[in-house]
Amino acid sequence: MNSFEHHLRSAAERREAAGLTRRLSSDHPTGLIDLAGNDYLSLRTHPRVLEASADAARQHGAGAGASRLVTGTWPVHDQLESALAELSNMPAALVFSTGYHVNLSVLTALGDADCLIISDAHNHASLIDGARLARGVVSVVPHLDLDAVEHALRTRTQPRALVVVESVFSVLGDASDLPALLALVEEHDALLVVDEAHGMGVCGEHGEGLTASLALTPSDRLVITTSLSKSFATGGGAAMCTPLVREHLVNTARPFIFDTGLAPACAGAALGAYEVLRDEPERAARVRIAAARLADALEVPTPAGAVLSAPMLGPQEALAAVQRAAEAGVRIGCFRPPSTPDGTSRLRLTAHAGLTDAELDHATTVLNELITP
Ligand SMILES: Cc1ncc(COP(=O)(O)O)c(C=O)c1O
Repeated sequence: MNSFEHHLRSAAERREAAGLTRRLSSDHPTGLIDLAGNDYLSLRTHPRVLEASADAARQHGAGAGASRLVTGTWPVHDQLESALAELSNMPAALVFSTGYHVNLSVLTALGDADCLIISDAHNHASLIDGARLARGVVSVVPHLDLDAVEHALRTRTQPRALVVVESVFSVLGDASDLPALLALVEEHDALLVVDEAHGMGVCGEHGEGLTASLALTPSDRLVITTSLSKSFATGGGAAMCTPLVREHLVNTARPFIFDTGLAPACAGAALGAYEVLRDEPERAARVRIAAARLADALEVPTPAGAVLSAPMLGPQEALAAVQRAAEAGVRIGCFRPPSTPDGTSRLRLTAHAGLTDAELDHATTVLNELITP
């Protein structure tokens, strides 16, 4: 056995003993009520979205063909950027090949050596990795702790600072106090970066996201990022910002410059999802109503968006609960360390707009039984 095999085998054995081995499965059992995916608006297989995706592929090709800066920018990218800027009430937008790339780009392009990056302890891996790759000093503050953010801003020695949060956090489903954070960045001449991956499409009367729904201004203190893989039902990501920040990203963000542009099929699908949401804004409210019912059944607080989570004793208990739910016809997820910000294994559930009343009734009964000792 070579030294790598030895190292990898012992790591695999340790994971297995701790109940933390992950396995990929392409199995999609039919007939289960899905409370595990991120297709919040139930648009992944919507005919208008599929048609818009196929149309864009037929017009521009199966792939973008090059980096956006070479020959990989297509009219569908421009249209999608206008639509996302309008939805989020920001002056400009830039689309990327994934939400992960957006966060890497924004943090590395803005978080240079003269910038302090103040990052919430529950931030998603893409924000953490962006902060690690950036040249700025990183200060991780306790989850939702406004005093810690204020202290870091006030005592910084760097001329610039970024405060980085999610609008709706991806594991616990709780929300940042965006008005208070925006007031702090204004007071301390900083920028607020808000990842709306779990907020756009779900929060606000029109699914505009938590930031836009609060009508937060001024936009020159804000950079909003999002994934297109959740409410927008496809793959890709976007940053919504001022034209000046957009120009800086286009010119300096390595995960944008050295990456092939978002595939036209994905840009078309996201645009199709945007159009369905524009015509049927009630989808956003349906997700939130469903999430509130699931939260009641699990006896956890009503979440800010579609994501819910319930702590479990440990990873084995979480896996057993997932199995029991599946046997009762409900597909739920579980997050185990290191995918949980607080090291607790959790059931992780998501609501979506397509859940019928009968499905919700059945799911709430099953969930309630899961948590009843
Ligand atoms: C909060 C958050 N940000 C960013 C991402 C990355 O998005 P994508 O899957 O489009 O790369 C995710 C992803 O799953 C997420 O939950």
